[in-house]
Amino acid sequence: MSQPSRFRYEEVADFVAGLAGRGTLQPGTRAPSLREISTQQRTSLSTAVQAYRLLEDRGILEVRPQSGYYVAKAPPALPVPTTTRHSVRPAKVELSGLMLDLLEHASNDALVPLGCAIPNQRLLSSSKLDLVLARTARVKGAQCNTYSPPRGEMSLRLEIARRALRFGQALSPDDIAITCGCTEALALALEAVTEPGDTVAIESPTYFGLLQVLRAKKLKVVELPTHAVTGVDVQALGDVVASGKVRACVLASSFSNPLGCTMPEDNKRAVLRLLAQHRVPLIEDDVYGDVHFGEERPLPFSALDKHDNVIYCGSFSKTLAPGYRIGWIATGRHMARVLETKFATSLATPVLTQVALATFLSNGDYDRHLRRIRREFADTLGRMTRVIEQAFPPGTKVSRPEGNFVLWVELPEPADTRLLFAEALAHGICFAPGVVFSASGKYAHCLRLSGGHGWDARIEKGLRKLGAMASKAFAAHNRRP
Ligand SMILES: Cc1ncc(COP(=O)(O)O)c(C=O)c1O
Repeated sequence: MSQPSRFRYEEVADFVAGLAGRGTLQPGTRAPSLREISTQQRTSLSTAVQAYRLLEDRGILEVRPQSGYYVAKAPPALPVPTTTRHSVRPAKVELSGLMLDLLEHASNDALVPLGCAIPNQRLLSSSKLDLVLARTARVKGAQCNTYSPPRGEMSLRLEIARRALRFGQALSPDDIAITCGCTEALALALEAVTEPGDTVAIESPTYFGLLQVLRAKKLKVVELPTHAVTGVDVQALGDVVASGKVRACVLASSFSNPLGCTMPEDNKRAVLRLLAQHRVPLIEDDVYGDVHFGEERPLPFSALDKHDNVIYCGSFSKTLAPGYRIGWIATGRHMARVLETKFATSLATPVLTQVALATFLSNGDYDRHLRRIRREFADTLGRMTRVIEQAFPPGTKVSRPEGNFVLWVELPEPADTRLLFAEALAHGICFAPGVVFSASGKYAHCLRLSGGHGWDARIEKGLRKLGAMASKAFAAHNRRP
C-alpha cells in the first residue's frame, strides 16, 4: 500500500495556517478550538490535536495554559529595550524638573496627547458612569453626604473582593481599605512598613508618581535592573535583599509603567520566597492589571503569596474613573497602621463616588467596558508600534506590553529626549521624556508614549512627526565629523 503524500493532520494544519496567513485569524487572537476545527474539517479530535501540535512547532500557533490555542504574534521588527545594568547602591531620589512640566502639559488639549497615561474620555464610558452617579445622588444623596467608615463603603469593598476572587485573591471585604487612588494606597503601604531614611527596592525605569511618594517620605531607593518583558532581575533583587539594606520592595503586579513588563509566575514565586526569607515586605501596584490583552489576567503577587508578606494596591484610575480618585489597599497584617495613617492624612474617601462605583461594578457594566477598552488599547499600541518601525531612527527599540496602554521607546544613543521634548512641545506634541522614570537621571535616550487616547489621524500624524524629529537629530549627529 502506498503512503498518502500528505497526512490528514497536515492538511488540517495547512488549512489553519492559511487562515492565519491571509489574516482571517489575526495574530494574538484565539484560534478555533480543537473541537470546532475537528467538526468543521470533519476529522477526529486526535487529528486536530496532531495538526495543532504541528502548527505549534511551526510557530504559527501558541498554547496558553487553561486558555487554549492562539495565533502567534508576528515577530516584531524592532528589538525590545535594553536591561540596564547600573549600580544597585541605595541613593536619594533626585527628581527631574521635567516631571512637573509633563504634568502641566498633560491637561493641554492643544497638544497631541502622547504624554500622560490617562485614558481618553471617550474610552472611559464616562456618560454611563455619569448616569449611575446621578441616580445614586438622586436616590441616596443625603445618606452619602457623610464620612465613610474607616475602611470605606462596604458595598464597594464587597465588589472589589468578589472581583479579586476571579484572579486568585481570597480577600474578605474587611481585608480591604478604600483609598484616594492608588497613589494614596502606595503612600499608606510605605508608611506602614518603612521609616524615613530607609531604602526601598524598585524596578527601573519606574512610574514617576511612585518616585514622588518615595521622596516625600524621605526614603532612599535601589533601582533594580528590569527586563522589558520579564521584569525585575530576580538574581539582582536577591543580592540586594541579602545585603540587608532594603526595608521594602515595590513592584508592579503586571504590565508595569513604563516598560509594560510582567514577571513570569515562577519569577514571582521566587521573588516572594526571597523577600519572605529576608523579611522584606512587598508592596505591589496592580493599577494596570485589568487591562490585559490576553484571555487571562496574570496572577498578582498577593494571589501567590503564602507568607502574608504582600500589601496590594489598586485603583480604577486606568480603566474607568481617574477623576473619582478611588483606589484600594489589601493590607494584610498592617490594617491598623494603615487606617491610623489614612485617618491622619485624608480622614476618609468620598462616599458618593464609592457607592456609584459599587453599583457600576455590580450590574456588569464594568466587565463590558473592560472588554472594549482592552481591544482598543491593544489595537492602538499595535498601530503605534508599526508607525515607530517606519518613522523612528534606525536602532530604535520598543517595548511589547501584553497589557497597559504605554510604550517605552529606546532611541539610539546619544539621543537626548529632554531636547526632543522641548522641540516636540513647540510642534504641539507631548510625550514623556525618559529621565522622569528614574531616581537618578537615567534614560535620557528613552521616552514613553501613551496610547490612552486611542487611535486617530491626529495621533498618527503626531507620532510620525515625532519620529521625523528624532530621525533628524540622529542624522545630524551622524554627520558630525
Ligand atoms: C503604575 C502606576 N501606579 C499608580 C498610579 C496612580 O494611580 P491613581 O491615579 O489611582 O492614584 C499610576 C498613574 O499613572 C501608575 O501608572
